[in-house]
Amino acid sequence: MRPAWISAMTVLTLTVTGADGNEGWFWHITDFHWDFSYWDGQLSCNGQNVSSPGEFGDYWCDSPYSLVLESITKMAEVKRDVDFILWTGDSVPHVPLVNLSQSRNQDIVRNLTATIKSAFSSIPVYATFGNHDYYKKDQFPPHGNDIYNMTLLLWETWINDSSQLENFRKGGYYTVKRNNIRIIAMNTNLYYTGDQLTVNVSDPADQFAWLDSVLTQAVTNNEKVIITGHVPPGFTTPRKVMWMRPQFNIKMNEIINRHATVIAGMHFAHEHHDNFRLYYDSKGNPSVALFIAPSITPWRYIIGSEIEPKHNPGARLVKYDRESGRQYDIQQYYVDLPQANKDGNLKWKLGYNATTEYDIPDVTPASLETLVQKMSSATSQKFLKFVLWYNTNATEFPCNDTCHKSVLCGIKNMDESAFNQCLQNDISFATMLTPRMTLPLVILPLYVLNTVV
Ligand SMILES: *[C@@H]1O[C@H](CO)[C@@H](O)[C@H](O)[C@H]1NC(C)=O
Ligand SMILES: *[C@@H]1O[C@H](CO)[C@@H](O)[C@H](O)[C@H]1NC(C)=O
Ligand SMILES: *[C@@H]1O[C@H](CO)[C@@H](O)[C@H](O)[C@H]1NC(C)=O
Ligand SMILES: *[C@@H]1O[C@H](CO)[C@@H](O)[C@H](O)[C@H]1NC(C)=O
Ligand SMILES: *[C@@H]1O[C@H](CO)[C@@H](O)[C@H](O)[C@H]1NC(C)=O
Ligand SMILES: *[C@@H]1O[C@H](CO)[C@@H](O)[C@H](O)[C@H]1NC(C)=O
Ligand SMILES: *[C@@H]1O[C@H](CO)[C@@H](O)[C@H](O)[C@H]1NC(C)=O
Ligand SMILES: *[C@@H]1O[C@H](CO)[C@@H](O)[C@H](O)[C@H]1NC(C)=O
Ligand SMILES: *[C@@H]1O[C@H](CO)[C@@H](O)[C@H](O)[C@H]1NC(C)=O
Ligand SMILES: [Zn+2]
Ligand SMILES: [Zn+2]
Repeated sequence: MRPAWISAMTVLTLTVTGADGNEGWFWHITDFHWDFSYWDGQLSCNGQNVSSPGEFGDYWCDSPYSLVLESITKMAEVKRDVDFILWTGDSVPHVPLVNLSQSRNQDIVRNLTATIKSAFSSIPVYATFGNHDYYKKDQFPPHGNDIYNMTLLLWETWINDSSQLENFRKGGYYTVKRNNIRIIAMNTNLYYTGDQLTVNVSDPADQFAWLDSVLTQAVTNNEKVIITGHVPPGFTTPRKVMWMRPQFNIKMNEIINRHATVIAGMHFAHEHHDNFRLYYDSKGNPSVALFIAPSITPWRYIIGSEIEPKHNPGARLVKYDRESGRQYDIQQYYVDLPQANKDGNLKWKLGYNATTEYDIPDVTPASLETLVQKMSSATSQKFLKFVLWYNTNATEFPCNDTCHKSVLCGIKNMDESAFNQCLQNDISFATMLTPRMTLPLVILPLYVLNTVV
């Protein structure tokens, strides 16, 4: 029998070697919202008088083509040799429907597809639809449709797997396998509250049944899974809006929870801000991390008297393990928009490495849970950092105790009832709130917010 210390050393060596040997990177880019009328019409600019629009964009408007093109070109200069790219949709701008059409939306997606392909040539891109990409926005059909067939022609070489074509034609979803990692690319726009076509459908495009079977298969095959898509489950905060219809949010969470052990990470979008959420197992241990990536578009909404805080364009690199799927780190890049406009030169700046910025060993659920513990008050150092990066370093938006509570409840509760309960509770991280103080569950008009992002 070998002495215990030899076994311990062997394990240690293997662990270290494993981490170094299998380390890979991928980009996550999202929400370009290219405003083709930026220089002539400014249709996306919230009715603001943007009299001197910047070369690379304006906080009131969606992206000019120069921002689209330069952000992609410069991304390839930051790091070109990635394993793959996740691209989670919303290429079409926030402009009136009269200025869009099926063919215009298709042209936008075609142009972006070609632009990304030309900057990254052979790197596969796992692309998913955003709610704005369909004409008319949000109305993704729960069965075969032109948009699926036409977009498949653009993305087929990236998917590169004939067994997935049927799924894509049916509902715009697919799965691919790379090393031991299975990527599941979902069309969660089908679950969005704005989609009138799925109101009475229990499993739009049979995507839930498919997700369940792919995850079940992954358990059998000992694969690790990365799930990507546009509209995320859970609540966006501090606004307290659940994007998915209640029954879809329940179903999605139920499937994720049941297969949590094979899920290495979830990468979603739609919110335009940097955020994350955690799933927990029945013992209360963190089980899956869901990351929300900030947008390329700097556009911000105005709804009544509410103005969204300014945010800079963002793009992120994720460092992961090609075998175990373990998510090691996030390198968050951003464009200092006023600076880029002033210099006439777009630069990606490294905003943060998650591990150094937040003082955690990696971005696994357990590490993120320790971070959440340290974000325990609205004035804690870690929470202030989170708030800064929530808007990609554009401005510090004030996030008081009420806001802080909403953010923490959103991170820790994927289910509607649990989230609402959390807001009502006098929980430890909100000790500064008056005990049993009840908060309004929804402050903003849901229907307005839901159609906006
Ligand atoms: C927009 O602002 C510019 C410069 O401040 C001004 O000259 C112009 O009249 C404004 N236009 C409108 C429609 O308000
Ligand atoms: C947007 O649509 C309106 C109404 O058809 C039209 O008058 C306007 O020229 C369009 N704007 C652009 C920039 O296409
Ligand atoms: C995308 O559109 C821009 C702006 O109209 C144009 O200059 C560019 O050539 C187009 N790119 C592709 C690949 O179609
Ligand atoms: C999509 O393509 C498939 C295979 O070519 C075809 O069977 C189907 O009818 C097409 N669907 C639509 C809506 O065009
Ligand atoms: C498609 O997959 C095949 C077989 O796995 C591989 O040899 C080929 O390089 C892939 N093509 C692209 C464009 O990724
Ligand atoms: C959904 O079902 C309700 C109740 O049966 C019905 O009133 C409504 O018209 C249906 N909506 C759609 C889009 O099918
Ligand atoms: C964030 O923005 C501030 C103000 O512009 C700047 O001083 C700081 O360097 C930025 N932080 C990073 C990490 O880029
Ligand atoms: C961020 O991470 C990268 C790659 O792991 C490393 O090269 C770089 O030095 C780190 N930068 C900071 C500021 O921690
Ligand atoms: C936080 O700010 C919001 C909106 O500005 C306000 O309604 C709320 O009362 C504030 N909460 C606290 C605890 O100060
Ligand atoms: Zn968007
Ligand atoms: Zn969206």
